[in-house]
Amino acid sequence: MSKEKNRKRCIAVFVLMGMLITLISRSAFAGNAPQLLVETKNSLLVFSIGGNGKLYQSYFGQKPGHATDYALLQSTRHEAYIGAGMGDLFEPAIRVIHADGNPSLDLVYVSHKTEKKGDDLSLTSIRLKDPKYPVEVLLHFAAYFKDDVIKTWTEIRHQEKKPLTLSNYASSMLHFEASKYWLSQFDGDYMTEMRMKESQLTTGIKVLDSKLGTRAHMYRAPAFFLSFNKPSDENNGELIAGTLAWSGNFQCTFEIDQQNSLRVINGMNPYASEYKLPAGKTFETPAFIFTYSNKGKGQASRNLHRWARQYEVLDGDQPRLTLLNNWEATHMDFNENVLVELFEGAKQLGVDLFLLDDGWFGNKYPRDGDKTALGDWQVDKKKLPSGLGHLVKEAGNRNLKFGIWLEPEMISPKSELYEQHPDWILKLPNREESYSRNQLVLDLINPKVQDFVFNLLNDLLTENPDIAFIKWDCNRMLTNTYSPFLKENQGNLFIDYTKSLYQVMERLRKKYPHLPIMLCAGGGGRVDYGGLKYFSEFWPSDNTDGLERVFIQWGYLNFFPSLTVSSHVTSMGKQSLKFRTDVAMMGKLGYDIRVKNLSPDEIRFSNAAVQTYKRISEVIWFGDLYRLVSPYEENRAVLMYVNEARNKAVLFSYLLNFRRKEYMGKVLLSGLDPDKRYKIKEINLLPDAVSTHPDNGKSYTGDYLMKVGLNLSPGKISPLSSAVFELVME
Ligand code: DGJ
Repeated sequence: MSKEKNRKRCIAVFVLMGMLITLISRSAFAGNAPQLLVETKNSLLVFSIGGNGKLYQSYFGQKPGHATDYALLQSTRHEAYIGAGMGDLFEPAIRVIHADGNPSLDLVYVSHKTEKKGDDLSLTSIRLKDPKYPVEVLLHFAAYFKDDVIKTWTEIRHQEKKPLTLSNYASSMLHFEASKYWLSQFDGDYMTEMRMKESQLTTGIKVLDSKLGTRAHMYRAPAFFLSFNKPSDENNGELIAGTLAWSGNFQCTFEIDQQNSLRVINGMNPYASEYKLPAGKTFETPAFIFTYSNKGKGQASRNLHRWARQYEVLDGDQPRLTLLNNWEATHMDFNENVLVELFEGAKQLGVDLFLLDDGWFGNKYPRDGDKTALGDWQVDKKKLPSGLGHLVKEAGNRNLKFGIWLEPEMISPKSELYEQHPDWILKLPNREESYSRNQLVLDLINPKVQDFVFNLLNDLLTENPDIAFIKWDCNRMLTNTYSPFLKENQGNLFIDYTKSLYQVMERLRKKYPHLPIMLCAGGGGRVDYGGLKYFSEFWPSDNTDGLERVFIQWGYLNFFPSLTVSSHVTSMGKQSLKFRTDVAMMGKLGYDIRVKNLSPDEIRFSNAAVQTYKRISEVIWFGDLYRLVSPYEENRAVLMYVNEARNKAVLFSYLLNFRRKEYMGKVLLSGLDPDKRYKIKEINLLPDAVSTHPDNGKSYTGDYLMKVGLNLSPGKISPLSSAVFELVME
């Protein structure tokens, strides 16, 4: 039989099966609609199959206490995953243009299966298909029972004659019915990342999105809280926290219809991305991750943190390295002697690792400024004549591990790489090159470029096997975007770029599964769970001013666990060294400072702080976070971490820029065992200082601390001061 005949026969069988399934669905499912359940400890997502064979989301929310009541959840008002071009008049989940030009997709239920993947995880996959066209869609729901987290994504495939054009392809569509909806979003810019804003949604569409390509989250994060009926606070309210695991362009859409129902669609941004999907290939969307809480935002964050540490973040259950980075201390102006001096400083601090930042490479065009050398990843022989091996050794002699900065996806127009491979660069034909930070982006979609990036890291790590840490930077977004490799399929570019990045990371992780790599994009321009599968931590912002960092880190900690939030003590900001250190300690502590400019007392303090941090970091990294007083509500921020056994806790209290005679009430602690006693000790004090805090050394029951609370600002208080307390069960 000819290929063409065979193909036609396949399509006919596919279509016939679809019609049959629709008929079976119609007859077998008359009366009570059959249900599909996705369950976690406290939440329930119910799908029903309607008499028309279509899949409906009948319920999502708090799980009823009696499973017998689930059968009452039968609503067929909201189709689960809506194809454009049929009856629905609001935002679709998916829009395709068939090979014959028909721009519609009708999806009917075909089958589903639920597999137990362990005690805590079950995976439900639901197959839908178009009865008239050979296109199928698979909806996946991974339910992480104990953490109340659901991870959902979609696969699309077809057997049409020509490539199918995909113009919308949501990872998830969810429907809600509440009287009011409140959205907390997180946005900003370079140096002002993750500012929290809350507003009530009104009829129409609210979109959070990015079109930046790389460094895609610089203006907005694909992460939000969505509260139902009334705004939630830390401990009260019904909400979901949601985030998209995708390092590229994203789109989170919230649409309230004429009946006050809300549909929430999350996925890759379809902007400039009409994707051509060849027959037989699977188009997989990134995952949308969400958690339900009816106990406020704090619970939602803790759910995500616990889940992320166990399942998503690279080595999320393993300790991190404290480090000294040289970027803010030297920028690109250093040589071997300066670095060795910095190693001495790192040794004085007592950190685990020295991280060499930008400026160590390039010979024909040395990297003395940001106009040259990206792509020429050979050590600068003038600056560092003895090579990297020498530096690794010198660091080792001081008991320090060594890490290094790279910006693998980028290229300087003044580089040997540019001279050798002008066709490896994303840029529009017939247009001027468009620079940002004087650089261009490599066409990572091209497999040769992927090899180049892989080999760059692989060679570096092979030649210097003791390199123990990488900082992977990405200092520009995409503009002037055109891939010479993709030719006529430019609509695939934004999506394939990010997929290519993940492919390179997959390859690297196969060979170097546990090497810590920091995700950085000129500050916090690229932070999401898609990336954190491959990266152990991220750089939240180039703004390291202690006061600003309280807000920035607070923002990220809503969605990401503390051991991923790199928080460095620098000389930026007018606050005391103690304040800046206390702020950095709430995340993953590091330094980016010229130690020789510190006084002997400051060095003593910092060294003791590092020791203290190492002692308490287990609670900070793996404990539960309780945000007690928000800097958005008062001129102070208070948060605490409690370990799983609830026998240790660490409390951070930061007084911000308050005004004269501003009264600060007692703070109610959280997460403790009410029936146990905890001894309170102020820690991280200046050298030779003794705590003057009236509760220092005292013991209270957890019940007292959570109901009566502590006065954290007794006596005369000063703005921009801070205190850290350790609580140990007696
Ligand atoms: C931007 C990063 O955020 C900084 O920490 C530093 O690594 C510079 N890039 C180096 O160019």
